[in-house]
Amino acid sequence: MSKSGSNHTVTMTDNVTGKTATFPVIHGTAGAPVLDIRTFNKEMGLFTYDPGYTATGSCQSKITFIDGDEGILQYRGYPIEQLAEQSDYMEVCYLLLFGELPSKAEKEKFVYDVSHHTMVHDQINNFFRGFRRDAHPMAVMCGAVGGLAAFYHDSLDIENPWHRTVASYRLIAKLPTIAAMAYKYTVGQPFIYPRNNMGYAENFLHMCFATPAEDYKVDPVVAKALDTIFTLHADHEQNASASTVRLAGSTGANPYACIAAGIAALWGPSHGGANEQVLNMLEEIGTVDKVHDMVKRAKDPDDSFRLFGFGHRVYKNHDPRATVIAKAAHEVLEALGVHDPLLEVAVALEKIALEDEYFIKRRLYPNVDFYSGFILKAMGFPVSMFTALFAIGRTVGWIAQWNELIEDPEQKINRPRQLYTGAAARDFVPLDKR
Ligand code: SDX
Repeated sequence: MSKSGSNHTVTMTDNVTGKTATFPVIHGTAGAPVLDIRTFNKEMGLFTYDPGYTATGSCQSKITFIDGDEGILQYRGYPIEQLAEQSDYMEVCYLLLFGELPSKAEKEKFVYDVSHHTMVHDQINNFFRGFRRDAHPMAVMCGAVGGLAAFYHDSLDIENPWHRTVASYRLIAKLPTIAAMAYKYTVGQPFIYPRNNMGYAENFLHMCFATPAEDYKVDPVVAKALDTIFTLHADHEQNASASTVRLAGSTGANPYACIAAGIAALWGPSHGGANEQVLNMLEEIGTVDKVHDMVKRAKDPDDSFRLFGFGHRVYKNHDPRATVIAKAAHEVLEALGVHDPLLEVAVALEKIALEDEYFIKRRLYPNVDFYSGFILKAMGFPVSMFTALFAIGRTVGWIAQWNELIEDPEQKINRPRQLYTGAAARDFVPLDKR
């Protein structure tokens, strides 16, 4: 991987052992440089300690850059605001995977290749029959995506670049099909096959909301809004689910297993599952006059409740995605003629929180999940599908990170260490002596 040459170093001295060592600092294209501590244990006889990896870089990456203090997000150097406004999700997928925006011909071939992988093996239909009808779509997605490894044996050799390319296209293409099947199964309607003459978001909406009984025309306003949501969710550097995909990938696991692991991690309410919890939280608040009570709970150190859709490990300023989605939410609801009283509750909650010392001091702002649910709900999706939609958008980011990991000569199996604080060594006591 590329490293900027510099004589920047940090020297440390252990005031107990007297050991001292100097470690190089590596500078990237943008953002904070990193202290290279790969020889730290050998030189100092210590391990570093950083629960939750709040200050630890796991890799070098050329894919996505975030500046949390400035509220900046760039995919391969392009600002997210420009991509959301001027590009589309298929272009963004190409950009994340290959590092450059496609030419017209490259884009046409990419879209053709992806669209011709949208169908799933017909036996996969049987996966769904094993689930309860009221299964959460993310539980189905974990199972069905992991199960793809049982079908596509011709793209499991991660050392083979062609296998990795085929698996990458298959996952980008089939995630919407599987998510739509998960949705249809819960509502008891027959699966709708993908159509190769439809756009990516349009095809997904058609698979979700069409029925065999009549023609279904996808509203172009809805398709464009969903395409933009997929773009905004496409990647986010080393977030929890991307790090899960990388960790699974570092063991040599096949791509379908790695993406299923990413889906599982995304499901958590502190991560991608927050978009579902935001709507549940707003439903619980109910009306604007009850917002203060919920904010009070969120501030109470003795109450584990957190305001879903607020705060972020990296953004200590506005999440640029939230700004784009908030604007889109108002536009889409107006275009669809939808009045959602919970939107007023959300706006009031955001205003009260952003003026409250507790949130100001901790630099807590709305994140990508705070407003996305309004658009998805107005489109007709149940709250239980929100995180599955996040997973569709994020799959390309997970795949780009996974490919970068496999191609990185510096990467090896991820295996953190620990500080042991358990019982000291002791001898076994037979049962009759306890
Ligand atoms: C995503 O990492 C990514 O990039 C993720 C993501 C992506 O695209 O992949 O951006 C997607 O996951 C967005 C985040 C969605 N999650 C939520 O909206 C859940 C609510 N948010 C919190 O759980 C929290 O803000 C996290 C998990 C997002 C971030 O947690 P951190 O970085 O570990 O921060 P922290 O828990 O240490 O909080 C610092 C302080 C604490 O107070 P003190 O102990 O200092 O007194 O801020 C408080 C926290 O209690 N705090 C909140 C809060 N978030 C943090 N208090 C109330 N409500 C909140 N939402």
